[in-house]
Amino acid sequence: MADTLTITDNRTGKHYEVPIADDTIRAMDLRQIKVNPNDFGLMTYDPAFLNTASCRSAITYIDGAKGILRYRGYPIEQLAEHATFVETAYLLLDGELPNDAELAAFKKDLSGHVMLHENIKKFIEGFRYDAHPMGIFLSTVGALSTFYAGAKDVDNQQSRRRQSVRLIAKVPSIAAYAYRHHVGKPYIYPDSELSYTGNFLNQLFKRTEPIYRPNPVLERALDVLFILHADHEQNCSTSAMRGIGSSNADPYAAMAGAAAALSGPLHGGANEAVLRMLTQIGSLDQVPAFVESVKNGDGRLMGFGHRVYKSYDPRATVIKETANQVFEVTGRNPLLDIALELERIALEDDYFVSRKLYPNVDFYSGLIYQAMGFDPAMFPVLFAIGRTAGWVAQWEELLSDPTRKIARPRQVYIGEAARDYVPLSAR
Ligand code: CMC
Repeated sequence: MADTLTITDNRTGKHYEVPIADDTIRAMDLRQIKVNPNDFGLMTYDPAFLNTASCRSAITYIDGAKGILRYRGYPIEQLAEHATFVETAYLLLDGELPNDAELAAFKKDLSGHVMLHENIKKFIEGFRYDAHPMGIFLSTVGALSTFYAGAKDVDNQQSRRRQSVRLIAKVPSIAAYAYRHHVGKPYIYPDSELSYTGNFLNQLFKRTEPIYRPNPVLERALDVLFILHADHEQNCSTSAMRGIGSSNADPYAAMAGAAAALSGPLHGGANEAVLRMLTQIGSLDQVPAFVESVKNGDGRLMGFGHRVYKSYDPRATVIKETANQVFEVTGRNPLLDIALELERIALEDDYFVSRKLYPNVDFYSGLIYQAMGFDPAMFPVLFAIGRTAGWVAQWEELLSDPTRKIARPRQVYIGEAARDYVPLSAR
């Protein structure tokens, strides 16, 4: 059996044979299919990339039908149970789990980059008191581009590594500053005695106590959430990271774009939207009416559905377990009952069943964040902290590929044919 596809062009009666590799044909192989020699050649039309692989990647594997997610081959459930976020970030970047010495070196490297330049404070001061933290986050990531001129040397692997470590190290500090600005509290400097996530909690929530001690259950829960959000192959924001990175822009500029993509309610902004939706529903007896309104086309059930998963999102399963651990410490979030009822009804309703709409990562995460004391506006920022590891790993994979080219899709032009300019007086 040959690994080829035979195509007959019924316009010309000609046959073409194109190779199949990894269950994929190359779109460029279609270009030879022409009606006449001056013809541009056949293209594919795939808005929103429903069926187009934009890269070859060895980082994350998803089987959407079976609900499988693996980073570098490791099942997400095992990483969530046994690994830390820092180990996971190393795994995504380097392809293997670190040994003791490698992990210690990586942690040291991260803690060496956790501080922000003092001017960042002034930069953040410029935002209005009610600025959305995600807007502050993505702008500040972009502003870092002006602090590290060496980051422009994107062909230098060592420089790329430094920027990747810097970004993973600094995003919790940026997020914490964005939050403290939002609530009008003074910024807190990092404490290198604490873990990556423990220190983040310190930078967020420290008050006047001399040493902040994070609650270990909440610290672990947030670390698990970072692991679950760390990468998700070629989603909207990662595609933005790769798309911008493909122009050789520095990673701060590229990641500002990725974070902007993440901020949308159909992507990382969904966790915030879920919380607002649950609050708006308000009580259990309002759930059926809300489901009906969604079915009638009045908005979407936020936190449900996914482009790739057509079964239960495996991250949502882990998050549900984590929620129970968190609620034992914080007390049960009263919105949980509304969420559970929404899920129960939706999973039995033909509208959702026939469209294969299941809870995704964002459905329960907001309940945990809220119970931990986060304002809903911070939820997408928390997503961004975890996803930074994936963004920089994907960026590194892109930049280390010697065959890479600038991302530049084609279009199908549907506008006017050539026409002559009409002077203003004649219009
Ligand atoms: N509620 C109600 N109907 C929905 C939903 C939903 N959440 N999601 C999809 N549908 C319907 C949609 O109306 C369409 O119905 P029809 O065929 O009758 O027109 C059908 O299901 C297919 O939807 P689609 O928009 O073609 O699916 P997509 O793959 O383009 O969109 C999605 C995926 C995640 C954008 C979408 O499911 C959605 O908007 N979900 C709500 C927002 C959300 O939770 N986003 C977080 C995604 S996971 C984390 C992340 O990526 O950041």
